[in-house]
Amino acid sequence: MDYLLQIKEAVAFIRKQTDFEPDFGIVLGTGLGALVNEVKVVSEINYEDIPHFPLSTVESHSGKLIFGYLSDKTVVVMKGRFHYYEGYNMKEVTFPVRVMKLLGVKKLIISNASGALNPDYRKSELMVINDHINLQTENPLTGKNLDELGVRFPDMSEPYDQSMIDTAIRIGKEENITLHQGVYVGVNGPNLETKAEYQMLRVIGADAVGMSTVPENIVARQMDMPVFAVSVLTDLCYPGHLQKISVEEVIAAAMKAEPNLTKLIRRVIAEA
Ligand code: HPA
Repeated sequence: MDYLLQIKEAVAFIRKQTDFEPDFGIVLGTGLGALVNEVKVVSEINYEDIPHFPLSTVESHSGKLIFGYLSDKTVVVMKGRFHYYEGYNMKEVTFPVRVMKLLGVKKLIISNASGALNPDYRKSELMVINDHINLQTENPLTGKNLDELGVRFPDMSEPYDQSMIDTAIRIGKEENITLHQGVYVGVNGPNLETKAEYQMLRVIGADAVGMSTVPENIVARQMDMPVFAVSVLTDLCYPGHLQKISVEEVIAAAMKAEPNLTKLIRRVIAEA
């Protein structure tokens, strides 16, 4: 079926469940689900009930859309996101962002777990993403353009909204949260990188590496949605000091950062 029609059917289904109108869309990364506990929930819809919605496969994610209030603003939170490495294509990965736009979402907030390439960074610190490098091999905009949603060749000169970045940096200072600003490089995964690959990613200008966020960002920007994104630095990837890590350690490091991440996102939304 036509992709645009699928998006519209998903939106129509959601509209039958709730007439709630979220201004902010929030996508939570691996191990970073705690923010949903702060949401004053109005309505919840399981991914599996929404027509054409992909289903979560990673066990650390439980998939649903949560509608409600955060910092007195209206939000829809994606609890559980879709990664390319799970086997979804990029149209599936970004389907929920398209749906959010048609539900009226104005701004997109993204969190993710990522590996630190910048040697000034420490585990469980936060990095506000101010730019990205896309090394993923499939682009979500490939194929016939959905002219109704956005242009064929979207501008990417400000992929991450400068005014939300400025707000976040000020909040970081006020709240005494260490907040880096840097470039995120998106890779396919699911394996982590070799020493030589980390070295390359650092050399080409990246401060953190992860397997998400870039496709959602591209689709959001095509639809003119400002994006704010934060990486939680879950492991240190300095090529000279590379240590073995496990997904459990990544999740533990993410959880340690959650209180700061939650505080930051709450306040950025309050002031955006
Ligand atoms: N590489 C890629 N993705 C990641 C990493 C990493 O080191 N850590 C968390 N997500």
